[in-house]
Amino acid sequence: MAEPGLAVRRRSCRGSVGKRSRALAQTCAVCSPVARKRLSSGDEGTTCSNDSEEDMFGDYDSFCGNDSLLAQVDEIEHKYLQDKNVDIKAAGDIILGNLQSRVHQDKQDDISTPENMVVLKADKEDDFQMNENDLVDSNQEPSESVLDELPSSQLLYFEKMNELSSGYRKSVGTEERDKCIGSSLDKIRSPLSFCPEAEPRNRTVDVCSDSKCDSLKTESLKDHLKSAMTVNAKAQTLQVSKTKQLKEAVLSEEICVAKKTIESSSVDIGPFYGLPSKVKDLLKQFRGIETLYEWQHNCLMLESLQQRKNLIYSLPTSGGKTLVAEIIILQELLCRQKNVLMILPYVAIVQEKVRGLSSFGIELGFLVEEYAGSKGRFPPIKRRIKKSLYIATIEKGHALVNSLIETERIDDLGLVVVDELHMLGEGSRGATLEITLAKILYTSKNTQIIGMSATLNNVEDLQKFLQAEYYTNNFRPVELKEYVKIRDTIYAVDSKTEKGFTFSRLLNFKYSSNLQKADPDHIIALVTEVIPKYSCLIFCPTKKNCENVASMVCKYLQKEFRAHREKEKQDLIKDLKNIGNGSVCPVLKQTIPFGVAYHHSGLTNDERKSIEEAYSAGILCLLACTATLAAGVNLPARRVILRAPYVASDFLKKNQYKQMIGRAGRAGIDDAGESILIVQEKDRHLVQDLVSSPLENCYSNLLLELTKGMQSLLLSLVGLKIAVTHEEVSNFMCSTLLGVQQQLLSKDKSLSEIIKDGLENLIQKGLLRGRTSEKDHNSKCTLTVTPLGKATYKGSIDLAYCNLLYRELKKGLEGLILESNLHLLYLATPYDMTSNCSPDWMIYLKQFNQLSAAEQKVADVVGVPESFIIKKASGQAIRKNMDSAVVNRLYLTFVLYALLKETNVWSVSEKFNMSRGYVQNLLSSAASFASCVLHFCEELEEFWVYKALLTELTKQLTYCVKTELIPLMEVAGVLEARAKQLYNAGYKTLAHLANANPEILVKVIEHLSRRQAKQIISSAKMLLSEKAEALQEEVEELLKVPTDIPGTY
Ligand SMILES: Nc1ncnc2c1ncn2[C@@H]1O[C@H](COP(=O)(O)OP(=O)(O)OP(=O)(O)O)[C@@H](O)[C@H]1O
Ligand SMILES: [Mg+2]
Repeated sequence: MAEPGLAVRRRSCRGSVGKRSRALAQTCAVCSPVARKRLSSGDEGTTCSNDSEEDMFGDYDSFCGNDSLLAQVDEIEHKYLQDKNVDIKAAGDIILGNLQSRVHQDKQDDISTPENMVVLKADKEDDFQMNENDLVDSNQEPSESVLDELPSSQLLYFEKMNELSSGYRKSVGTEERDKCIGSSLDKIRSPLSFCPEAEPRNRTVDVCSDSKCDSLKTESLKDHLKSAMTVNAKAQTLQVSKTKQLKEAVLSEEICVAKKTIESSSVDIGPFYGLPSKVKDLLKQFRGIETLYEWQHNCLMLESLQQRKNLIYSLPTSGGKTLVAEIIILQELLCRQKNVLMILPYVAIVQEKVRGLSSFGIELGFLVEEYAGSKGRFPPIKRRIKKSLYIATIEKGHALVNSLIETERIDDLGLVVVDELHMLGEGSRGATLEITLAKILYTSKNTQIIGMSATLNNVEDLQKFLQAEYYTNNFRPVELKEYVKIRDTIYAVDSKTEKGFTFSRLLNFKYSSNLQKADPDHIIALVTEVIPKYSCLIFCPTKKNCENVASMVCKYLQKEFRAHREKEKQDLIKDLKNIGNGSVCPVLKQTIPFGVAYHHSGLTNDERKSIEEAYSAGILCLLACTATLAAGVNLPARRVILRAPYVASDFLKKNQYKQMIGRAGRAGIDDAGESILIVQEKDRHLVQDLVSSPLENCYSNLLLELTKGMQSLLLSLVGLKIAVTHEEVSNFMCSTLLGVQQQLLSKDKSLSEIIKDGLENLIQKGLLRGRTSEKDHNSKCTLTVTPLGKATYKGSIDLAYCNLLYRELKKGLEGLILESNLHLLYLATPYDMTSNCSPDWMIYLKQFNQLSAAEQKVADVVGVPESFIIKKASGQAIRKNMDSAVVNRLYLTFVLYALLKETNVWSVSEKFNMSRGYVQNLLSSAASFASCVLHFCEELEEFWVYKALLTELTKQLTYCVKTELIPLMEVAGVLEARAKQLYNAGYKTLAHLANANPEILVKVIEHLSRRQAKQIISSAKMLLSEKAEALQEEVEELLKVPTDIPGTY
């Protein structure tokens, strides 16, 4: 049955060995999508079809001698030919799939030659049930000339086909069959078989359209070749003419040579959007994705992408944007052999992505490096062989780009992918993202930029900024129905109508007067329509509100809800108890038995993770959460309820609304999705505006966020020597988003004036040296960065604090109290957390009193005398003006100090009466800031002594756990609770984890799914190989013979 494919191959592989090996080389050369397109149009095929047949002879006998192989092959034959219920279409697909992969492997096949057309057509005729017309067609003898070309095995094949077709000549019309033939040829031409006749909503690009085909498609090409050869072998026994026997022998030889060629070729580049077919298999294995959506295919085939132009693409939430980006990333890593930077908005998402892509890295031979929190090396290690995918937060991505520009390695970065591109418009993080992208655009002509988002409006501005093409599509795999609820009426959102919504139904739920009082917004009625069978999210305006809603719902839920997955819910409570060292949050303890929980930043990372996992597994069916969940990890729901159109006390923005409701109806999880926004009568008009208004525009934040925006940019432009004169800086600024929107954003001042003011300010602050001419804005005067300026941009220190930090470190040199790490900790306490801290003076005093005499001196040295704390605690008035930033900062230092001592977030949060989530957040901010201060000190010779001290402190803050857990917690996403479990089960080192057996891991670690186990092992393997590579590189560098040894030439 495999002859058709082989016949194609024979056509294409004629020629000397030399020619064949050249053909293989071409395989690599044409791996780009552009090249593939050229190939699939048949151009290449014709040039290759006249190769001579002479060296296609191979050792056919050796194959015949292999009994076990034959037995195997026989079995396959049986499957396809003997079984009455055989799904012939699937078999045909395999052959075509095979053919397709060979077409891409070889890049020489001429699928449009008449012979091949006939063979394919015949094959497809076999593949589908046929009607009378088909019979006429299939009974038509292939023309004599064609039969002459065919070996006897194919004659047998034709005979069998006729036999089969007589049994299947039923209902499918010629037209449909022709369509199939057409589509089979289509499949060959496209990098992935495409199925245009699928339902529009679920229109997909077919990886392997049939379930039978799925189960068999993992069989190797080798197996199919063997199968083909068995047919040939069988045909030998037939009574056929001498010429046919001869021809068969020739073909057999060809098969063997072809087989060898394929086997000897370890390179399998090309069949899947220029990528090895293994990628396709891995997508199925790791993600369960078998088919690409039509838009994904179209987007990947965009001319602009193939020309490596920058691209912005925008689709509704859950549209499947990530997969497209990931395929482009793999193309860059594997085909173009360049490093890639992927920028994601939050640490948790970075960790999730590192975990998810590590397994791809291990299978496909690239490194995945985490740049989040205090993780990541600057500049990144220059790898000898493997390419790196850096997955970074916005801030770390910026520092990474700076380090690459500084070391003149920015051209090694082939691609930058930005998820949630609309973040450009969001505060200081938006400014940092804009600065990063502007620097890449300006310094590297070869780095491609891809940005994606579900919520973009003023795309033209972004396109201008990124010099990018734009692709958009309204596709959403699962339809999302939007509703609002006012009183007891549900309205469907319909932005086309004047009022924005139309009547849908009345809520049908009987409330007692008690319940009406407790739940005036009918939340219980809304949730019980879906839970426990389906999942539901309730977005609440505040953290406290989340907890209240969760409690209130459970109070009135019927007892039956407890029975649903009871045991697993008990396990979850046990799990949380372990995390909390014996204590569980009382609210969660009450709500979890009903399958309900709250989710907000007051929880620790470990708690959040456990709750997320339980929700994803369906153990919990309702989460009351804050808006952060919408932008965080992927937690889908059948129904999303918005408790009120507010986030804290601010009215909801359209972008936020879209992101929140976008959690409903995620592909692969739900087959329907709906959102209900609860509205009070007073807000009706605002909500009407909200649903009918367009998404918010995305504006540059360089001016609004002055110290983290414009000033920070100007400093690093000069520091990195990207632009060192006013004129050059002006040129650069034209290529920013601010440059594009300047007239809109700064009506009073020209860009040149803004630059001049900014540069002068930096000179005044002692961060830059030089002059900007008063009159002549195009001054050619060269600016240089001072050591303090350099330390500031290299440490990513907010310009608002750099002078203060310098002064405090300098003062520390005169009298750093090193009896404990308290003083050092004060210097590493982040400035930006002090403004929203209000100390409890009794706790302040208590903590102060517990310090040693030397430690108490620290308070005095930094400017918080004991008398002040006592007076505050006793409620006395204080005449002297105190710097509240310093007072608050010391209070936070006390929290950190307790944390480092006790390594227990729970007890510390109790001690300071703060939420454990806040305490943990303080800890990770401090870890991050400590590493920034370390980089700051590294640039200033006078601070040499801090280097050793801060290196150690950063480590302590990063892994504020028992030392033995540190190696395990280095693995992306392994948090403290998991590390403890692993450690106790005997997995004590990175190597233990990297070499663990997932099956055993699942058995010995409680509440660990197989998928999670595999991800942990993959991440550990990745980290281990990254570390080993780094050491090998160091060795190589050490042993390198210098080229400039005096006296050698
Ligand atoms: N071709 C596909 N077939 C099946 N599932 C898919 C396919 N492509 C993506 N998915 C799945 O769809 C879900 C949503 O995809 P993804 O996270 O990429 O959406 P998104 O467009 O980035 O949405 P958002 O804007 O909300 O981030 C994921 O679970 C993903 O695995
Ligand atoms: Mg996404």
